[in-house]
Parts: sequence; C-alpha cells; structure tokens
Amino acid sequence: MSTKKDTVLVSGGAGYIGTHTTVALAEAGYDVVVIDNFSNSEPSAIEGVEKILGRKICFKQVDTCDKEALRGVFERHDFSTVIHFAAYKAVGESVSEPLKYYQNNLVSYMNVLELMKEYKRPNVLFSSSATVYGNADVLPVTEKTPRQDATSPYGNTKQIAEDILRDCCHAYEGFHGIALRYFNPIGAHPSSLIGELPRGVPNNLVPFITQTAAGIRERLSIFGNDYDTPDGTCLRDYIDVVDLAKAHVAAVDRMTEGKMEAGYEIFNVGTGTPLSVLELVNRFMAANGVNVPYVITDRRDGDVPAVWADTTTANNVLGWKAERDIDDTLRSAWAWEKHVRSL
Ligand code: UD1
Repeated sequence: MSTKKDTVLVSGGAGYIGTHTTVALAEAGYDVVVIDNFSNSEPSAIEGVEKILGRKICFKQVDTCDKEALRGVFERHDFSTVIHFAAYKAVGESVSEPLKYYQNNLVSYMNVLELMKEYKRPNVLFSSSATVYGNADVLPVTEKTPRQDATSPYGNTKQIAEDILRDCCHAYEGFHGIALRYFNPIGAHPSSLIGELPRGVPNNLVPFITQTAAGIRERLSIFGNDYDTPDGTCLRDYIDVVDLAKAHVAAVDRMTEGKMEAGYEIFNVGTGTPLSVLELVNRFMAANGVNVPYVITDRRDGDVPAVWADTTTANNVLGWKAERDIDDTLRSAWAWEKHVRSL
C-alpha cells in the first residue's frame, strides 16, 4: 500500500536543477509547489515540466526576497519541506557585484528559514556546491574534507548558508537540514523538454561546448593545459542532472521519513570519477558525431586544478548513486541544445 507523501516547496523551481528536481519529486509521488521569479529562467521551463508530467503543476511567480509574498505561499500551502534553489550563480559576476550576490542569495535564504521557523515547517534542503572545498589537498574530497576560504562572493554565500543551516538545526527543535554539495551538473532530461538555459555567453563548460557545436560560438577556449594533471587540463566530476535530481528525492525521503541521524547532514553529489576538460570535449564529439573547434588559452582565474567526490556517504547513507552513462549524458546535452535552437 502506498502512503501519501508530503508536499515540497521548491524555490527557484524554474531553473536548471529546479525543473529536473520538480519532475523527479512529482514522479516519486510528492506534491510539489514551485515558485520562481524568472530572474534567470523562463516560463517555458515550467511548461516543459508540465509536458513531461502530463499535467499542470502548482506554480506561483514569487520572489523569495519579497518576504510578504513568500509568506502568502506559507499561508496557503501545507508543505513540510523546502528545497531552496533560488540563488544567483555566476562566479565572475559575484566578484564584480558582491552586494547583489549577498543581498539576493542570503536575504532570500533568511526569509525562507525565518518563515519555516514561524510556520513550523521542519525540513530544508539546501543547494550547496563543491566550490566549498576550494583547492583540496587530498582527493577525492569527502564531506569531512576541510572547507577552504571562498575565492568568490558566490562561493562565500554557499559557505555562509551551510553554516546558517547548521546553526538553525542545532538551535531549533525539530528543524532538519541537508546540504547537498553538487559537483558539476551537466546534461538534460531524456525528453529534451527541460535543460540548462544560460542567458548570454555561458560560463560553464558544457553549455559552451553545445553552443559551439551548434555554431553559435566560433570556438571553445580550454582554460589552460599546464595543470599538474594527466593531460594538463583540469579534472572535474560531471554529474548528470537527472541523477542529481534523484539525489534530492533521496534526501527528501530521508527527511520526511525521519531517517536522519543528525539534525544537519551534508552529502557530496557526484559520480566519484574525474574527467579532464579535454576528455570531456573529445567524448562529447565522439558521442554525438559533431565537431567542437577549440583552442588552448590561459588559465581562468580561480579555477582549481582538480576536484572530484568521494561518494561513499551518499551511496551508503543517503542510498543514492549516480547511474547515467556519461555518453548518454553528453548526448542529452546536445539533444537539448538542438531542441532549444528549433524553438
Ligand atoms: C563553476 C564554479 C563553481 C560553481 C559551478 C556551478 C568557478 C571557478 N567555479 O565550477 O563555483 O559551483 O561552476 O556550475 O567558476 N572550462 C573551459 N572553457 C570554458 C568553460 C570552462 O576550459 O569555456 C573549464 C574550466 O576551466 C574548468 C572546467 O571546464 O576546468 C569546468 O568549468 P565550469 O563548467 O565553469 O565549472 P567549475 O569551474 O568547475
């Protein structure tokens, strides 16, 4: 007999990870309330989610920085859990406009937490990042690997938000928090109805690759091939966004089924397998049968040579494991780019 599952509020649910997570939650039987202010996403993303699910979802255009508007969502909906995605994420922009990042990312987060406390909503899932590990001395990184000083205001907002959550879970009875530290999310839903929609020139590697393959960008710049890595380019842990979405479902299950061992828990969400930039570009070309012209350029400021996840805790405690084959992921990224161009 299946029991009815809780309702989950997804802030920033029209974004790249938010849309995939909304689909995964709904498919797992959760009721979902989605909010977004479309500051870095489009209404078409919600339409894509609805097409995949074959039904309308509960969506409200709300800015999480607007506490009274957010209060209205808490008044009207009886969710036990919030997944807080709503945040800016451009590392370079955060360096030139720190106040914009601290204001948006922290004020919205504080609003969510304050209202959760006030309305006695116990569970929060926070989108953190492997960026908190900085340039780690020992690889792969475990959740116990010491964090390093953030190299950007964006990275700092992730560290501060983790600490705020830890303190709330310690102080407020019944309050539970999980921080998922994402490695490098890539790819798109197999339907090609949702995916990453960068505005302007992409900062991240895979959207830049797909736009170059599509002829929108002349060539990809590979930022440095003189790192102390096997082929000289940086190593990262590229995690399929559908697998990442399922990690959120596992974390929500854990919170709502009372399985947490502590008030606050952290999980690495990666594959555990590093790939170099050059390997990724070559695999993309081979998997899709397309050419991606590239040049090697100088290193990008702030890039770490290598980071990948030890996924033991996510596998054994969260009960989640990355499953999608990297070539399928890279095919899904290209299929999504072609879908976007055909609109
Ligand atoms: C970046 C952020 C990280 C953030 C994550 C969100 C930095 C330093 N880090 O991670 O804080 O959480 O995005 O998705 O910005 N590359 C190229 N050419 C490109 C783009 C990227 O060679 O045009 C290389 C980079 O040097 C890096 C790898 O590809 O080695 C991955 O880059 P990217 O996708 O931007 O992710 P991260 O830098 O790992």
